[in-house]
Amino acid sequence: MAAILNHTALEPVPMLDFQREYADLRTEVLAAIEEVCDSQRFILGPQVGRFEKAAATACGATHAVGCASGTDALWLGLAALEIGPGAAVITTPFSFFATVSSILRSGAQPLLADIDPLTFNLAPAAVDDLVRSHTGTPIRAVMPVHLYGQCANMDDFHTLAQQHGLKLVEDAAQAFGAAWTLPDGTTRRAGTLGDIAAFSFYPTKNLSAYGDAGMCTTNDPALAERMTMLRAHGMRQRYFHDEVGWNSRLDTLQAAVLEVKLRHVEAGNARRREIAALYDSLFRAAGLAAATTDLGIVLPITDPRATHVFHQYVIRAPRRDALREHLTAHRIGSEIYYPQPLHLQASLASLGYKLGDFPHSERAAAEVLALPIFPELRNDEVETVVEAIRRFYQ
Ligand SMILES: Cc1ncc(COP(=O)(O)O)c(C=O)c1O
Repeated sequence: MAAILNHTALEPVPMLDFQREYADLRTEVLAAIEEVCDSQRFILGPQVGRFEKAAATACGATHAVGCASGTDALWLGLAALEIGPGAAVITTPFSFFATVSSILRSGAQPLLADIDPLTFNLAPAAVDDLVRSHTGTPIRAVMPVHLYGQCANMDDFHTLAQQHGLKLVEDAAQAFGAAWTLPDGTTRRAGTLGDIAAFSFYPTKNLSAYGDAGMCTTNDPALAERMTMLRAHGMRQRYFHDEVGWNSRLDTLQAAVLEVKLRHVEAGNARRREIAALYDSLFRAAGLAAATTDLGIVLPITDPRATHVFHQYVIRAPRRDALREHLTAHRIGSEIYYPQPLHLQASLASLGYKLGDFPHSERAAAEVLALPIFPELRNDEVETVVEAIRRFYQ
């Protein structure tokens, strides 16, 4: 640390470096791809079923159904639950666009409720208020997002779902391996905390493919069977279409890559937690950590019931945009997830929301900054990021 403290030029730090993981896994991954090529079984080859089985086991779910993307997984889950026209689904405005667009594609009406400003996840109290005050299209489901790799408050969502007869669809796109400890002391993984969960294996995710891929998990065999049918044109028997499904199979090559990477995801998640703890301690040691952005940087807050996988390490930062420019000038990666809440997206204007409707989400969008975090990130790079931020605020 001494060398960088005396204002020498800082080394660049990437937001994400796929090459490092590839260097570690190259032999294993290429062998898996070769196996698919040698078999020439590109559609629903044995790797798909094998990966589904292993991924379900890793989540503690009885069933997993692979599909083409996380977006499709959300849609597939809603369709399997028969949530469509005439139903409303509550979710968060502070998420990736697909959270809401999947509800629209299902034909259901998205209803939004604000987030908990501490965890950035959908706030159960806001959902409860909405359920009680809403008139119109009946609410059938809640879709909490496990944002940045931390499970939403599933205790309260279980209570809400029971009280109001709602389905729970987890948007677990960012949370493979995350977990939540229930009031009875049992710990359950994301993917088993609702009726259906959707995962994304987009290349930047903590479990990622070499292209687009996704998966649903459930403990309900009937739902799993329905999703398996819907993802393949609604066919149970070849060329006999029971329903109008679509083509959203998990590609065999992607399943082969995922089978390899699944073996490393636990270690990767553990390393992410280690990096997050290192960031925390360095920010504190530098005197930068504070309770509010009026006073300094607000570090990520982990609910004691959550096992966070730190898909992202996200701070709240005073003068966020200027800080980001400073980091970019030093070739230090950062990202804003997400700069515009969903209720203010031009394409979602028809939902009828306006600026001021979800103040916690709007404030988060103005303050959050994601810093580099991936299993191969080195400790000295974490030190460099913190040092660059220290220089900005000094
Ligand atoms: C919270 C969330 N939901 C849904 C998705 C959609 O996943 P995909 O990009 O695989 O379609 C993503 C990822 O991009 C996401 O982060």
